[in-house]
Amino acid sequence: MRIYDIIKKKRDGLSLSKEEIDFFVSGYVKGEIADYQASALCMAIYFKGMSLEETTNLTLAIRNSGEVLDFSGVKGIRADKHSTGGVGDKTSLIVAPIVASLGVKVAKMSGRGLGHTGGTVDKLESIPNFKVDLPKDEFIKIVNEIGVCIVGQSADLAPADKKLYALRDVTATVDSMSLIASSIMGKKLAADDDVIVLDVKTGSGSFMKTDAKSKELAEIMVGIGKNAGKKTVALITDMDIPLGKAIGNALEVNEAVQTLKGNGEKDLLEVCIALAVEMLYLSGKGDRKTCETLVKDSISSGKALKTLKDMIKAQGGDERVVDDETLLPTAKYSRFVKAKSSGYINKVNTEGYGLSALTLGAGRNKVGDKIDYSAGIILNKKTGDKVEKGEIIATLFASDDALFEKAEQILLSSTFISDDKPIKRQLILARIE
Ligand code: URA
Repeated sequence: MRIYDIIKKKRDGLSLSKEEIDFFVSGYVKGEIADYQASALCMAIYFKGMSLEETTNLTLAIRNSGEVLDFSGVKGIRADKHSTGGVGDKTSLIVAPIVASLGVKVAKMSGRGLGHTGGTVDKLESIPNFKVDLPKDEFIKIVNEIGVCIVGQSADLAPADKKLYALRDVTATVDSMSLIASSIMGKKLAADDDVIVLDVKTGSGSFMKTDAKSKELAEIMVGIGKNAGKKTVALITDMDIPLGKAIGNALEVNEAVQTLKGNGEKDLLEVCIALAVEMLYLSGKGDRKTCETLVKDSISSGKALKTLKDMIKAQGGDERVVDDETLLPTAKYSRFVKAKSSGYINKVNTEGYGLSALTLGAGRNKVGDKIDYSAGIILNKKTGDKVEKGEIIATLFASDDALFEKAEQILLSSTFISDDKPIKRQLILARIE
Protein backbone atom coordinates (compact mmCIF):
# COMPACT_ATOMS: atom_id res chain seq x y z
CA MET A 1 0.00 0.00 0.00
CA ARG A 2 1.21 3.52 -0.80
CA ILE A 3 -0.04 6.78 0.72
CA TYR A 4 0.25 8.36 -2.74
CA ASP A 5 -2.44 5.99 -4.08
CA ILE A 6 -4.70 6.65 -1.08
CA ILE A 7 -4.48 10.44 -1.59
CA LYS A 8 -5.18 10.00 -5.33
CA LYS A 9 -8.16 7.74 -4.65
CA LYS A 10 -9.78 10.27 -2.31
CA ARG A 11 -8.86 13.16 -4.62
CA ASP A 12 -10.85 11.34 -7.33
CA GLY A 13 -13.85 11.01 -5.00
CA LEU A 14 -13.62 7.26 -4.32
CA SER A 15 -14.26 5.58 -0.98
CA LEU A 16 -11.33 4.43 1.15
CA SER A 17 -11.32 0.95 2.65
CA LYS A 18 -10.80 0.26 6.38
CA GLU A 19 -7.29 -1.05 5.59
CA GLU A 20 -6.38 2.14 3.71
CA ILE A 21 -7.67 4.36 6.53
CA ASP A 22 -5.79 2.28 9.15
CA PHE A 23 -2.63 2.45 6.99
CA PHE A 24 -2.87 6.26 6.84
CA VAL A 25 -3.57 6.80 10.55
CA SER A 26 -0.94 4.40 11.89
CA GLY A 27 1.65 5.55 9.33
CA TYR A 28 1.06 9.20 10.22
CA VAL A 29 1.38 8.58 13.97
CA LYS A 30 4.61 6.61 13.44
CA GLY A 31 6.04 9.45 11.33
CA GLU A 32 6.20 7.25 8.21
CA ILE A 33 3.75 9.53 6.41
CA ALA A 34 4.85 13.14 6.05
CA ASP A 35 2.83 16.18 7.14
CA TYR A 36 2.50 17.33 3.51
CA GLN A 37 0.95 14.00 2.54
CA ALA A 38 -1.42 14.02 5.52
CA SER A 39 -2.35 17.63 4.62
CA ALA A 40 -3.08 16.60 1.04
CA LEU A 41 -5.32 13.76 2.23
CA CYS A 42 -7.15 16.04 4.70
CA MET A 43 -7.75 18.53 1.89
CA ALA A 44 -9.03 15.74 -0.40
CA ILE A 45 -11.37 14.61 2.42
CA TYR A 46 -12.46 18.24 2.88
CA PHE A 47 -13.49 18.50 -0.78
CA LYS A 48 -14.75 14.98 -1.51
CA GLY A 49 -16.19 14.04 1.90
CA MET A 50 -16.43 10.57 3.41
CA SER A 51 -19.30 8.10 3.74
CA LEU A 52 -20.59 7.17 7.20
CA GLU A 53 -18.65 3.90 6.96
CA GLU A 54 -15.40 5.70 6.13
CA THR A 55 -15.99 8.25 8.93
CA THR A 56 -16.65 5.44 11.40
CA ASN A 57 -13.47 3.64 10.31
CA LEU A 58 -11.47 6.87 10.65
CA THR A 59 -12.94 7.40 14.15
CA LEU A 60 -11.97 3.87 15.23
CA ALA A 61 -8.49 4.23 13.75
CA ILE A 62 -8.04 7.48 15.73
CA ARG A 63 -9.32 5.84 18.92
CA ASN A 64 -7.05 2.83 18.43
CA SER A 65 -3.98 4.98 17.69
CA GLY A 66 -3.31 5.20 21.43
CA GLU A 67 -4.38 4.00 24.81
CA VAL A 68 -8.08 3.30 25.36
CA LEU A 69 -8.46 4.52 28.94
CA ASP A 70 -9.62 2.26 31.67
CA PHE A 71 -11.60 4.32 34.15
CA SER A 72 -12.82 1.36 36.14
CA GLY A 73 -11.06 3.05 39.09
CA VAL A 74 -13.65 5.83 38.96
CA LYS A 75 -16.65 4.95 41.10
CA GLY A 76 -20.10 5.60 39.60
CA ILE A 77 -21.47 6.76 36.26
CA ARG A 78 -19.18 8.90 34.12
CA ALA A 79 -20.61 11.53 31.83
CA ASP A 80 -18.84 13.89 29.44
CA LYS A 81 -19.79 16.72 27.16
CA HIS A 82 -17.94 18.01 24.12
CA SER A 83 -18.56 21.08 22.02
CA THR A 84 -17.76 21.30 18.32
CA GLY A 85 -16.24 24.71 19.03
CA GLY A 86 -17.52 28.22 19.46
CA VAL A 87 -16.78 31.79 20.50
CA GLY A 88 -17.29 32.69 24.17
CA ASP A 89 -18.19 29.05 24.81
CA LYS A 90 -17.27 28.57 28.46
CA THR A 91 -20.02 26.00 29.08
CA SER A 92 -17.65 23.20 30.23
CA LEU A 93 -16.41 25.37 33.12
CA ILE A 94 -20.00 25.72 34.32
CA VAL A 95 -21.64 22.42 33.34
CA ALA A 96 -18.91 20.06 34.61
CA PRO A 97 -19.03 21.31 38.26
CA ILE A 98 -22.85 21.42 38.23
CA VAL A 99 -23.11 17.80 37.09
CA ALA A 100 -20.35 16.64 39.47
CA SER A 101 -22.01 18.40 42.41
CA LEU A 102 -25.06 16.21 41.72
CA GLY A 103 -23.19 12.92 41.97
CA VAL A 104 -22.30 12.13 38.34
CA LYS A 105 -18.57 11.83 37.71
CA VAL A 106 -16.96 14.07 35.09
CA ALA A 107 -13.51 12.84 34.05
CA LYS A 108 -12.98 15.34 31.29
CA MET A 109 -10.33 15.67 28.64
CA SER A 110 -10.62 19.01 26.90
CA GLY A 111 -8.94 20.70 23.97
CA ARG A 112 -7.10 23.93 23.27
CA GLY A 113 -8.30 26.71 20.99
CA LEU A 114 -8.75 25.74 17.36
CA GLY A 115 -8.95 28.33 14.59
CA HIS A 116 -11.17 31.21 15.71
CA THR A 117 -12.67 29.15 18.58
CA GLY A 118 -11.50 28.99 22.19
CA GLY A 119 -10.55 25.87 24.18
CA THR A 120 -11.32 24.87 27.77
CA VAL A 121 -7.71 23.88 28.52
CA ASP A 122 -6.42 27.35 27.58
CA LYS A 123 -9.13 28.94 29.74
CA LEU A 124 -8.23 26.81 32.77
CA GLU A 125 -4.54 27.57 32.33
CA SER A 126 -5.34 31.25 32.84
CA ILE A 127 -5.92 30.39 36.53
CA PRO A 128 -2.54 30.83 38.26
CA ASN A 129 -0.74 27.47 38.75
CA PHE A 130 -3.65 25.37 37.42
CA LYS A 131 -2.33 22.02 36.11
CA VAL A 132 -3.98 20.44 33.05
CA ASP A 133 -1.33 17.75 32.75
CA LEU A 134 -1.80 15.17 35.52
CA PRO A 135 -0.72 11.55 35.88
CA LYS A 136 -3.64 9.16 35.40
CA ASP A 137 -3.70 8.04 39.07
CA GLU A 138 -3.99 11.61 40.30
CA PHE A 139 -6.68 12.35 37.70
CA ILE A 140 -8.75 9.38 38.90
CA LYS A 141 -8.17 10.31 42.56
CA ILE A 142 -9.47 13.86 41.97
CA VAL A 143 -12.51 12.56 40.05
CA ASN A 144 -13.33 10.19 42.93
CA GLU A 145 -12.79 12.84 45.62
CA ILE A 146 -14.23 15.99 44.02
CA GLY A 147 -16.40 14.46 41.30
CA VAL A 148 -14.69 16.33 38.47
CA CYS A 149 -11.27 16.85 36.97
CA ILE A 150 -10.53 18.57 33.64
CA VAL A 151 -7.21 17.89 31.93
CA GLY A 152 -5.67 18.27 28.48
CA GLN A 153 -5.46 15.40 26.03
CA SER A 154 -2.67 13.12 27.28
CA ALA A 155 0.03 12.07 24.85
CA ASP A 156 -1.26 8.50 24.94
CA LEU A 157 -4.91 9.25 24.21
CA ALA A 158 -5.80 9.32 20.50
CA PRO A 159 -2.34 10.62 19.43
CA ALA A 160 -3.50 10.56 15.81
CA ASP A 161 -6.04 13.24 16.66
CA LYS A 162 -3.47 15.35 18.46
CA LYS A 163 -1.29 15.36 15.32
CA LEU A 164 -4.14 15.80 12.87
CA TYR A 165 -5.82 18.52 15.00
CA ALA A 166 -2.65 20.65 14.92
CA LEU A 167 -2.18 20.01 11.20
CA ARG A 168 -5.80 20.87 10.33
CA ASP A 169 -5.60 24.06 12.37
CA VAL A 170 -2.94 25.45 10.03
CA THR A 171 -4.04 23.95 6.70
CA ALA A 172 -7.65 25.26 6.49
CA THR A 173 -9.08 21.77 6.91
CA VAL A 174 -10.85 22.13 10.25
CA ASP A 175 -14.38 22.56 8.96
CA SER A 176 -14.84 19.15 7.35
CA MET A 177 -17.75 17.12 8.67
CA SER A 178 -15.90 13.77 8.66
CA LEU A 179 -12.72 15.24 10.12
CA ILE A 180 -14.60 16.96 12.97
CA ALA A 181 -16.76 13.91 13.71
CA SER A 182 -13.80 11.50 13.78
CA SER A 183 -11.66 13.91 15.83
CA ILE A 184 -14.29 14.37 18.53
CA MET A 185 -15.63 10.82 18.62
CA GLY A 186 -12.14 9.24 18.34
CA LYS A 187 -11.23 11.03 21.59
CA LYS A 188 -14.56 10.39 23.27
CA LEU A 189 -14.46 6.66 22.53
CA ALA A 190 -10.90 6.45 23.87
CA ALA A 191 -11.97 8.09 27.13
CA ASP A 192 -14.31 5.34 28.28
CA ASP A 193 -17.36 7.39 29.41
CA ASP A 194 -20.85 5.96 29.90
CA VAL A 195 -22.67 9.07 28.70
CA ILE A 196 -21.64 11.52 25.97
CA VAL A 197 -23.50 14.80 25.40
CA LEU A 198 -22.43 16.64 22.28
CA ASP A 199 -22.95 20.37 21.91
CA VAL A 200 -23.03 20.85 18.15
CA LYS A 201 -22.78 24.54 17.41
CA THR A 202 -24.44 26.10 14.40
CA GLY A 203 -24.14 29.54 12.81
CA SER A 204 -21.50 32.12 11.96
CA GLY A 205 -19.22 31.36 14.92
CA SER A 206 -19.17 27.59 14.45
CA PHE A 207 -17.36 25.36 11.97
CA MET A 208 -20.69 24.24 10.47
CA LYS A 209 -22.35 27.44 9.32
CA THR A 210 -25.81 26.10 8.48
CA ASP A 211 -28.38 24.28 10.63
CA ALA A 212 -28.64 21.50 8.02
CA LYS A 213 -24.88 20.82 8.11
CA SER A 214 -24.82 20.93 11.93
CA LYS A 215 -27.69 18.45 12.05
CA GLU A 216 -25.86 16.13 9.67
CA LEU A 217 -22.71 16.36 11.83
CA ALA A 218 -24.75 15.67 14.98
CA GLU A 219 -26.39 12.63 13.42
CA ILE A 220 -23.04 11.19 12.32
CA MET A 221 -21.51 11.62 15.80
CA VAL A 222 -24.53 10.29 17.66
CA GLY A 223 -24.59 7.27 15.30
CA ILE A 224 -20.91 6.55 15.97
CA GLY A 225 -21.40 6.89 19.75
CA LYS A 226 -24.39 4.59 19.83
CA ASN A 227 -22.71 1.97 17.66
CA ALA A 228 -19.90 1.96 20.21
CA GLY A 229 -22.42 1.28 23.00
CA LYS A 230 -22.37 4.76 24.59
CA LYS A 231 -25.48 6.69 25.59
CA THR A 232 -25.04 9.60 23.20
CA VAL A 233 -27.18 12.68 22.57
CA ALA A 234 -26.43 15.89 20.68
CA LEU A 235 -27.97 19.30 21.21
CA ILE A 236 -27.73 21.70 18.31
CA THR A 237 -27.15 25.13 19.85
CA ASP A 238 -26.91 28.58 18.37
CA MET A 239 -23.48 30.07 17.68
CA ASP A 240 -24.66 32.90 15.46
CA ILE A 241 -24.05 35.15 18.46
CA PRO A 242 -21.16 34.67 20.93
CA LEU A 243 -22.30 32.93 24.12
CA GLY A 244 -22.45 35.23 27.16
CA LYS A 245 -20.51 38.46 27.08
CA ALA A 246 -16.86 37.45 27.58
CA ILE A 247 -14.47 36.23 24.87
CA GLY A 248 -10.92 35.40 25.99
CA ASN A 249 -9.49 33.06 28.58
CA ALA A 250 -9.36 34.78 32.00
CA LEU A 251 -12.41 36.89 31.11
CA GLU A 252 -14.35 33.68 30.40
CA VAL A 253 -13.22 32.01 33.63
CA ASN A 254 -14.58 35.00 35.51
CA GLU A 255 -17.86 34.85 33.56
CA ALA A 256 -18.17 31.14 34.40
CA VAL A 257 -17.65 31.94 38.10
CA GLN A 258 -20.24 34.73 37.96
CA THR A 259 -22.69 32.32 36.32
CA LEU A 260 -22.22 29.79 39.10
CA LYS A 261 -22.80 32.64 41.58
CA GLY A 262 -26.21 33.17 39.97
CA ASN A 263 -25.21 36.26 37.97
CA GLY A 264 -25.01 34.57 34.56
CA GLU A 265 -26.10 35.95 31.21
CA LYS A 266 -29.45 34.50 30.16
CA ASP A 267 -28.24 32.84 26.94
CA LEU A 268 -25.21 31.23 28.56
CA LEU A 269 -27.25 29.94 31.46
CA GLU A 270 -29.91 28.47 29.18
CA VAL A 271 -27.38 26.45 27.17
CA CYS A 272 -25.55 25.31 30.34
CA ILE A 273 -28.78 24.16 31.97
CA ALA A 274 -29.82 22.26 28.84
CA LEU A 275 -26.45 20.46 28.61
CA ALA A 276 -26.34 19.64 32.33
CA VAL A 277 -29.91 18.32 32.22
CA GLU A 278 -29.02 15.97 29.32
CA MET A 279 -25.97 14.65 31.16
CA LEU A 280 -27.95 14.00 34.34
CA TYR A 281 -30.95 12.55 32.52
CA LEU A 282 -28.82 10.07 30.56
CA SER A 283 -27.03 9.18 33.80
CA GLY A 284 -30.35 8.15 35.34
CA LYS A 285 -30.89 11.05 37.74
CA GLY A 286 -34.61 11.32 36.95
CA ASP A 287 -36.85 12.84 34.29
CA ARG A 288 -35.85 16.10 32.62
CA LYS A 289 -38.00 18.27 34.91
CA THR A 290 -36.40 16.72 38.01
CA CYS A 291 -32.93 17.15 36.50
CA GLU A 292 -33.64 20.80 35.70
CA THR A 293 -34.69 21.45 39.31
CA LEU A 294 -31.53 19.72 40.53
CA VAL A 295 -29.37 21.88 38.24
CA LYS A 296 -30.99 25.14 39.34
CA ASP A 297 -30.69 24.15 43.02
CA SER A 298 -27.04 23.28 42.56
CA ILE A 299 -26.41 26.84 41.32
CA SER A 300 -28.62 28.67 43.84
CA SER A 301 -27.27 26.70 46.82
CA GLY A 302 -23.65 27.41 45.81
CA LYS A 303 -22.92 23.65 45.54
CA ALA A 304 -21.69 23.90 41.95
CA LEU A 305 -19.49 26.90 42.76
CA LYS A 306 -17.93 25.01 45.68
CA THR A 307 -17.24 22.05 43.38
CA LEU A 308 -15.48 24.34 40.89
CA LYS A 309 -13.41 25.84 43.72
CA ASP A 310 -12.49 22.38 45.04
CA MET A 311 -11.50 21.25 41.53
CA ILE A 312 -9.28 24.31 41.01
CA LYS A 313 -7.55 23.66 44.36
CA ALA A 314 -7.13 19.93 43.69
CA GLN A 315 -5.53 20.72 40.32
CA GLY A 316 -2.99 23.02 41.94
CA GLY A 317 -4.69 26.28 40.91
CA ASP A 318 -5.28 29.36 43.04
CA GLU A 319 -8.88 28.74 44.11
CA ARG A 320 -9.13 32.25 45.55
CA VAL A 321 -9.89 33.47 41.97
CA VAL A 322 -13.46 32.35 42.67
CA ASP A 323 -13.81 35.01 45.40
CA ASP A 324 -11.43 37.60 44.01
CA GLU A 325 -11.37 38.06 40.24
CA THR A 326 -8.39 40.44 40.47
CA LEU A 327 -6.22 37.34 41.07
CA LEU A 328 -6.85 36.32 37.45
CA PRO A 329 -4.54 37.78 34.78
CA THR A 330 -5.64 41.35 34.07
CA ALA A 331 -4.84 43.23 30.86
CA LYS A 332 -2.67 46.32 31.00
CA TYR A 333 -4.71 48.20 28.39
CA SER A 334 -8.37 48.46 27.43
CA ARG A 335 -10.22 50.26 24.67
CA PHE A 336 -13.89 50.97 24.01
CA VAL A 337 -15.33 50.17 20.59
CA LYS A 338 -18.16 52.56 19.69
CA ALA A 339 -21.07 52.12 17.29
CA LYS A 340 -20.55 53.85 13.95
CA SER A 341 -24.29 54.40 13.45
CA SER A 342 -27.60 54.18 15.32
CA GLY A 343 -30.06 51.30 15.04
CA TYR A 344 -30.27 47.68 16.09
CA ILE A 345 -27.36 45.27 16.03
CA ASN A 346 -29.03 43.21 13.34
CA LYS A 347 -26.42 40.48 13.12
CA VAL A 348 -22.77 39.79 13.84
CA ASN A 349 -20.21 37.59 12.18
CA THR A 350 -19.26 35.61 15.27
CA GLU A 351 -16.19 34.09 13.59
CA GLY A 352 -14.97 37.69 13.16
CA TYR A 353 -15.44 38.28 16.90
CA GLY A 354 -13.32 35.18 17.57
CA LEU A 355 -10.64 36.47 15.19
CA SER A 356 -10.71 39.89 16.84
CA ALA A 357 -10.02 38.23 20.23
CA LEU A 358 -7.26 36.17 18.62
CA THR A 359 -5.70 39.37 17.25
CA LEU A 360 -5.62 40.75 20.81
CA GLY A 361 -3.56 37.69 21.86
CA ALA A 362 -6.30 35.40 23.21
CA GLY A 363 -5.52 32.61 20.70
CA ARG A 364 -2.79 31.22 18.50
CA ASN A 365 -1.90 32.05 14.91
CA LYS A 366 0.42 29.09 14.63
CA VAL A 367 1.27 25.96 16.60
CA GLY A 368 3.23 26.81 19.75
CA ASP A 369 2.22 30.52 19.92
CA LYS A 370 2.03 31.81 23.49
CA ILE A 371 -1.40 32.95 24.64
CA ASP A 372 -2.05 36.19 26.52
CA TYR A 373 -4.56 34.95 29.09
CA SER A 374 -5.71 38.45 29.99
CA ALA A 375 -6.59 39.41 26.40
CA GLY A 376 -10.10 39.41 25.01
CA ILE A 377 -13.37 41.21 24.60
CA ILE A 378 -16.35 42.09 26.79
CA LEU A 379 -19.48 42.60 24.72
CA ASN A 380 -21.42 45.59 26.03
CA LYS A 381 -24.09 45.09 23.33
CA LYS A 382 -25.21 42.00 21.46
CA THR A 383 -27.41 41.09 18.51
CA GLY A 384 -30.91 42.50 18.97
CA ASP A 385 -29.78 45.43 21.16
CA LYS A 386 -30.58 49.02 20.19
CA VAL A 387 -27.55 51.29 19.99
CA GLU A 388 -26.95 54.98 19.44
CA LYS A 389 -24.10 56.21 17.28
CA GLY A 390 -21.04 56.58 19.54
CA GLU A 391 -22.37 54.20 22.20
CA ILE A 392 -19.94 51.57 23.52
CA ILE A 393 -20.64 48.17 21.96
CA ALA A 394 -17.55 46.31 23.20
CA THR A 395 -14.46 46.68 25.38
CA LEU A 396 -11.16 45.26 24.15
CA PHE A 397 -8.40 44.08 26.50
CA ALA A 398 -4.72 43.52 25.57
CA SER A 399 -1.19 43.72 26.93
CA ASP A 400 -0.03 45.72 23.92
CA ASP A 401 -2.13 48.71 22.83
CA ALA A 402 -0.76 48.47 19.28
CA LEU A 403 -3.05 45.46 18.81
CA PHE A 404 -6.25 47.46 19.30
CA GLU A 405 -6.50 49.03 15.87
CA LYS A 406 -6.71 45.80 13.89
CA ALA A 407 -8.90 44.05 16.49
CA GLU A 408 -11.32 46.99 16.52
CA GLN A 409 -11.46 47.05 12.74
CA ILE A 410 -12.27 43.30 12.60
CA LEU A 411 -14.93 43.67 15.29
CA LEU A 412 -16.61 46.63 13.61
CA SER A 413 -16.61 44.98 10.19
CA SER A 414 -18.23 41.93 11.85
CA THR A 415 -21.06 44.01 13.39
CA PHE A 416 -24.05 44.91 11.22
CA ILE A 417 -26.25 47.75 12.48
CA SER A 418 -29.55 48.55 10.75
CA ASP A 419 -33.03 49.93 11.43
CA ASP A 420 -34.48 46.39 11.52
CA LYS A 421 -34.74 44.55 14.78
CA PRO A 422 -33.63 40.99 14.07
CA ILE A 423 -35.92 38.02 14.68
CA LYS A 424 -34.72 36.23 17.83
CA ARG A 425 -33.33 32.79 17.12
CA GLN A 426 -33.89 29.90 19.50
CA LEU A 427 -30.78 28.90 21.43
CA ILE A 428 -31.43 25.15 21.52
CA LEU A 429 -32.41 24.30 17.98
CA ALA A 430 -32.71 20.52 18.12
CA ARG A 431 -31.98 17.40 20.12
CA ILE A 432 -30.55 14.47 18.17
CA GLU A 433 -30.83 11.06 19.75
N1 URA B 1 -13.27 19.87 18.44
C1 URA B 1 -12.49 18.78 18.26
O1 URA B 1 -12.11 18.11 19.21
N2 URA B 1 -12.14 18.47 17.01
C2 URA B 1 -12.53 19.18 15.93
O2 URA B 1 -12.20 18.81 14.83
C3 URA B 1 -13.35 20.32 16.14
C4 URA B 1 -13.70 20.65 17.42
